[in-house]
Amino acid sequence: MAEHITEILIDETQIQQIVERLGREITASYQDIPGELMVIGLLRGSFVFMADLIRTIEVPLVVDFMTVSSYGDGTVSSGDVKIIMDLDTSLEGRDVLLVEDIVDTGNTFAKVVRMMKNRNPRSLKICSFLNKPECRVAEVDIDFCGCDIPDKFVVGYGLDYAQRYRNLPYVGVLQLDESVA
Ligand code: IMP
Ligand code: MG
Repeated sequence: MAEHITEILIDETQIQQIVERLGREITASYQDIPGELMVIGLLRGSFVFMADLIRTIEVPLVVDFMTVSSYGDGTVSSGDVKIIMDLDTSLEGRDVLLVEDIVDTGNTFAKVVRMMKNRNPRSLKICSFLNKPECRVAEVDIDFCGCDIPDKFVVGYGLDYAQRYRNLPYVGVLQLDESVA
């Protein structure tokens, strides 16, 4: 295990099983849409998950990414959400799947969902790899949920602490104390 990781919460095999299940659910749900599915990843946390996920979805799709700010480098959501890098493409009339690494308080995603709905997609659904239901402040309906986890700060598989640990192939619990600087 990497330094400062106290526990592996989801190992590589479990991650693969979760992603394959989500791919089946998403494929079934978008079987009959008129055009291509538009899969939008929220950077940076979702990029590892997104890369695996799109390869399990068996309907024609395009991808785009956006960056929103919420946390800075800390571990507590500020509830203040800004678009740092917007999409290249219009959502008008499209079937859109928003992909997130983790929904914690829901503050970030609730605001992003509201902003995306204002762009008049034909449909808008949400896929999150992880979900911390105990921490929810703002209501977010997750259509495709990878795994509910307890209220612990986790890293790996794209998730970071101060931009570190994204490369871990598993999801691990980070020991949060002054030794992690
Ligand atoms: P929310 O606004 O509280 O739902 O937080 C959303 C964002 O905070 C996620 O997209 C993550 O980038 C980050 N985040 C929340 N919980 C964790 C965690 O346990 N580890 C790493 N990042 C997290
Ligand atoms: Mg993050």
